Amino acid sequence: MDRLFGRLIAAQSRWVRPFGEFNHRWVHALFGPIPTIRDLLNGRWLGHPLHAVLTDAPIGILFLVIPFDLAGQAEAPATRAILGIGILTMLAAAAAGLADYSDTDGTARERATLHGTLMVGSLVLYVVSFLLRLGSSPASTAAIAFSVLGFLVIAAGAYVGGDVVYVLGNMVSRHAFRGAGTKWLALEPAETDADGNIPEGTLVKGRLGSNALVLVRQGETVLALHDQCAHASGPLSDGTLEGDCVVCPFHASRFRLTDGRVRRGPSVYDQPAYEVRRTEAGGWEARRRP
Ligand code: FES
Repeated sequence: MDRLFGRLIAAQSRWVRPFGEFNHRWVHALFGPIPTIRDLLNGRWLGHPLHAVLTDAPIGILFLVIPFDLAGQAEAPATRAILGIGILTMLAAAAAGLADYSDTDGTARERATLHGTLMVGSLVLYVVSFLLRLGSSPASTAAIAFSVLGFLVIAAGAYVGGDVVYVLGNMVSRHAFRGAGTKWLALEPAETDADGNIPEGTLVKGRLGSNALVLVRQGETVLALHDQCAHASGPLSDGTLEGDCVVCPFHASRFRLTDGRVRRGPSVYDQPAYEVRRTEAGGWEARRRP
């Protein structure tokens, strides 16, 4: 079964790639000037992707239409109300999904394009079903057929959406499996000046065991974050320094250098932060902040 689904999904790549590129342009242009709205929809304020929170509601609510229809209540006010609420929650989930979609790349964008297309198709079917239920009774068979079809399409869309997260890791913290050990380890800055100091006021890459860090020296203090952006692994050391934050070069998430707090999305996760100190031998060592 999973191979069949995999083949069906892969067969769509011919159209989802160009369609995804087209969508990416207008969605990016839409959210670019309103980063605060995009952050709100991404879920930065929640520390969790908002889309994942909102998607369960329409699927659960719209599923209820099926037993109501089977019980001969296709045109009952309660069924119409359930359908209407389901459509509204679907729109809310779509808005949050669109914000996440604006910063996807590669295979994740293609898969998300297929997911979004299926969800829009399902939404159209449900809206038609809703409108048919407002009419006279002969319309009810068609209304039921549209909502059953809508549920099949929404289920397919949810399957593909699950792939976007669980298979491709879109909007999953890149530090989900990183240990939180706080042992001091030798830190090797990639650059030092003539006095053996980390250059001041600029982003410098450093190595701490198997981890890459981004370092900024401010006088005697060295601030350090993990170099791999929590959103989609952008190398923060290739980003820019803006005030007290480092800006990711991939999608412009901002992280406060002192503690790794995310100040602007699309990342909804904080960045691991590290303490740095000099060793007696004149080198550097660091450990993850608790
Ligand atoms: S990788 Fe997307 S903001 Fe850093």
